[in-house]
Amino acid sequence: MFVFSKNKTHMRNTISGFSKFSKSEKIEWLLNTYFSDKDSARTLVQRYWNTDEKLQKLHDEFIENTITNYYLPLGVAPNFLINDTFYTIPMAIEESSVVAAASKASKFWLNRGGFKAEVLSTEKIGQVHFIYKGDFEKLQSFFAHVKPKLISETASITKNMERRGGGILDIELRDKTSDLPNYYQLHATFETLDAMGANFINSCLEQFASTFKNEAQSFENFTTEEKNISIVMSILSNYVPQCLVRAEVSCKVEDLKSKDIPNPEEFAQKFKQAVQIAEVETYRAVTHNKGIMNGIDAVVLATGNDFRAVEAGVHAYASKDGKYSSLTHCSVENGIFKFWIEIPLALGTVGGLTSLHPLVKFSLEMLQKPTAKDLMKIVAVAGLAQNFAALKSLTTTGIQEGHMKMHLMNILNQFEATETEKVKLIEHFKKNVVTHSAVVEAIERIRK
Ligand code: MEV
Repeated sequence: MFVFSKNKTHMRNTISGFSKFSKSEKIEWLLNTYFSDKDSARTLVQRYWNTDEKLQKLHDEFIENTITNYYLPLGVAPNFLINDTFYTIPMAIEESSVVAAASKASKFWLNRGGFKAEVLSTEKIGQVHFIYKGDFEKLQSFFAHVKPKLISETASITKNMERRGGGILDIELRDKTSDLPNYYQLHATFETLDAMGANFINSCLEQFASTFKNEAQSFENFTTEEKNISIVMSILSNYVPQCLVRAEVSCKVEDLKSKDIPNPEEFAQKFKQAVQIAEVETYRAVTHNKGIMNGIDAVVLATGNDFRAVEAGVHAYASKDGKYSSLTHCSVENGIFKFWIEIPLALGTVGGLTSLHPLVKFSLEMLQKPTAKDLMKIVAVAGLAQNFAALKSLTTTGIQEGHMKMHLMNILNQFEATETEKVKLIEHFKKNVVTHSAVVEAIERIRK
């Protein structure tokens, strides 16, 4: 029953100047404000501090108001053969079955030609959104006049990137007034090479906005109202349909035969149907793509990239034809089974966390110091492998068998099973179906 606590409702729990507090002052404030057993809450928070003070300080300074660390397991999936190179892929994820599934899929394809991956494009986008009240032709002629200056005034920002072969690719003026009155854009495209490029792009855009606004004020053909361009915002887009990678597996249908696939022809057809269902049915497509993102996010996170940016861009891409659909596709033609993914991924292997977080550096070294393009391929393969493993289970044994086997350890830990109990119970559940209640019963039986 819900007990209404008058005390809590009236508790004063707002605070000003919090960010100026020291770390221990912040923790004490939290303990005093929210926790009944302050000592155990404090002990918990402190137990997650790293004993290496320098390392802890590094993590503290990634964000504001850090109180402790939040662990995720970092696992590895070995045996990935991608374009004839072997990789062990680092994965940071909490979901029990993901790394096991990736490892199974890599092993399955190892003797069937491995994965092939190719980067199709690497263009990124940023926009200056502005309001202009006036004649469009005049705006067009102003844009033509100011465009060289937009580029030249970003020279100090773009110098290094250009030296390495990247930079601003183009800036377009876009008329968006059919969507929103007086709304226009500077729509810019960028090549950011091995950097994810968010800071580079945003700095360029803010410079474009300032040059654009200033120059408009002295453009002779403009009326006073036209000179008064209002910049709404300048920001990169996480929708990157021109930063695309494709990964694929294929083999003869008969070569799909394995311990769990006694009838490869039937398997291939059922697998293809499962993909087709995700292509046409949104409810299924979302779960299908979620499984793909299990693999993608885990590698994106382990390599210090921005998984929220990747998620947002990927799901927008999944709806690019006006309906949310599968990111993977399958064909079974002329005796050949082919399964592939095409996905937008804006990733970096330099800058950001990549040179700061020791485990990110470790992960990148494990991946043989990939370029951003290499990483795009590896991540796309992780997504495809994950989807292959999920569909293989779903269309054969069902997902729960493997999932619950992996989940068994979580349940055992939840009940604080001892090492001896774990050994006994794992042995028992090799021959019995794992369900939450079956595990609880088995634990109780052993403990009696
Ligand atoms: C679970 O995290 C992911 C799956 O649901 C994906 C799928 O259904 O394809 C197993």
